[in-house]
Amino acid sequence: MCGIVGGIAERNISDILIEGLKRLEYRGYDSAGLALINNKNILRERRVGKVINLEEAAKEQHLNGHIGIAHTRWATHGKPTETNAHPHISGKVAVVHNGIIENYVEIKSELEQLGYIFVSQTDSEVVAHLIAEAMKTHPTLFNAVQSIVPRLKGAFALGIVHADHPEDLIAVREGSPLVIGVGIGEHFISSDQLALLPITNRFIYLEEGDIAHLTRTSVEIFKNHGKERIERPTKELDATVSHASKGEYKHFMLKEIYEQPEAIQQTIAQALNDNALRDDFLSDAVTSFQNIDQIQIIACGTSYHAGMIAKYWAEQLIDLPCQVEIASEFRYRSPVIIDRTLYVCISQSGETADTLAALRDTQKRAKDKGLNISTMAICNVPTSSMVRETDHHLLTLAGPEIGVASTKAFTTQLSALMLLLLKIGQVKKRLAESQLTEIVASLWHCPKVILDTLQHNAEILRLSELFVEKQHCLFLGRGTNYPIALEGALKLKEISYIHAEGYAAGELKHGPLALVDNEMPVVILAPKDDMLDKLKSNMEEVQARGGELFVFADEHSGIANKERQHVVDIPTVNPWLAPIIYSIPVQLLSYHVAVLRGTDVDQPRNLAKSVTVE
Ligand code: G6P
Repeated sequence: MCGIVGGIAERNISDILIEGLKRLEYRGYDSAGLALINNKNILRERRVGKVINLEEAAKEQHLNGHIGIAHTRWATHGKPTETNAHPHISGKVAVVHNGIIENYVEIKSELEQLGYIFVSQTDSEVVAHLIAEAMKTHPTLFNAVQSIVPRLKGAFALGIVHADHPEDLIAVREGSPLVIGVGIGEHFISSDQLALLPITNRFIYLEEGDIAHLTRTSVEIFKNHGKERIERPTKELDATVSHASKGEYKHFMLKEIYEQPEAIQQTIAQALNDNALRDDFLSDAVTSFQNIDQIQIIACGTSYHAGMIAKYWAEQLIDLPCQVEIASEFRYRSPVIIDRTLYVCISQSGETADTLAALRDTQKRAKDKGLNISTMAICNVPTSSMVRETDHHLLTLAGPEIGVASTKAFTTQLSALMLLLLKIGQVKKRLAESQLTEIVASLWHCPKVILDTLQHNAEILRLSELFVEKQHCLFLGRGTNYPIALEGALKLKEISYIHAEGYAAGELKHGPLALVDNEMPVVILAPKDDMLDKLKSNMEEVQARGGELFVFADEHSGIANKERQHVVDIPTVNPWLAPIIYSIPVQLLSYHVAVLRGTDVDQPRNLAKSVTVE
């Protein structure tokens, strides 16, 4: 999704802005641009495609300036062309914008009547012209920006510079993330702190409605659309630059798949002693847990699949009703907000627009009705909006996830969800001590089981060759492995572009069986659990129609290789944690198929890592 980088310094910041954009590439984009102020002129370059194209252009033109803004664009309004790329310019004003200006049509026609000529199809261009118009009646760039922000409807983050005001960089946050990087005698802005890590680890997080005025030596923030001065704290991060490097791996996705043992170890270590939950784990949430009768999970994409598994766990393990819903549906269907409910948002980024909006809407409705609810974020980014806006949070300690297809974020979400449910079960006395001890032991063992599962990589690579020419694929699982079937299908389609569907195996005969012929690969997730015999019957149904089976099965499940049945033995695992382990082979399968098909594994077409617009 779109990315913003900007800065004001004594030195030339052209390379810093480009490096920042490169660090945002993982989010997905289709064009890039930058504008620098030099000698009271705006120097702008924009290019379709990768940041490297922009970098070459900037080098050729010897772009140089101590203040500027840069952008990667993920097209929403208007095709990915150079004219639609940011920054947009109106006279002496240059603007980069993330998000959507919902009322741009109305503003555009007003501005056209005033004589402004629009050159792009974007919603963003109105902002540049509005500010240019406001500069006629306002003494400073800040005042001009402050006057136009209330006109804009929608979600946006803005970076603004003006050729005649080379000492002022203006930043606006309203619904799209924006952070200020604090350097020594220099300041930067970005939609993601990751872009700025090579130059600083000190950040100020803007809140919704903030407008910031940055000079080389000062930062002034005003809340409520710039009306009231406010001090926001500067936070120091310990994240290091090396986290965002591929190291010895060919792709971030592969690196992140292999990081899962460590990521899970870190995530569980914050909660567990040798054989129990630590007393201080989620201690701030104990009263909330005592006061809930059910859980409602809200999430998108892969995080939603994690939520689906938690529903099985919550109801089977601690007898607590649990609903899970896609945030983009939840937020618009006027759901009844229920008293004594824990609302859990699951999100890698903590900035997904639909999940955030669903959370805020829930909080507002609960407040209006005087309901007693609690909110919680399960999130990988400690500084994110979701973490800041919920009553409680549980961090997944996966480290930065760069590949658009989520891997380690997903399995750490599952680990965190299990920890959360163990804690709730303990607080509400719905969990036998022996069961708690058993699951804690299995969680500690999980990183080792993942390592053993990763040993099957070469075998999975060989199987992936049989998928390369396929057009379609089915994934089947039962119980907690039904969501893994959905996740496997999502992974395959998003990075290899093969059409894939995940189904609960019991649903096979209600439709998808009609698709099965000898061209259809069917992936089966077969841990050794109570549903195994039923799953074996489903496999027979596929084979009887000529389908080719690819089975990830427990080594003791009694499923053997035979003609058109390829079996990869997965180490035996406690059935409660099987979905964590069975995620690994489907991730590897999708990865290898995508590599063999030559797609852009880390940045698949049309997709974004952090979806900050609806
Ligand atoms: C995008 C990403 C997915 C992710 C989803 C939800 O679609 O490509 O990998 O699962 O957003 O993101 P979140 O950050 O809320 O988990």
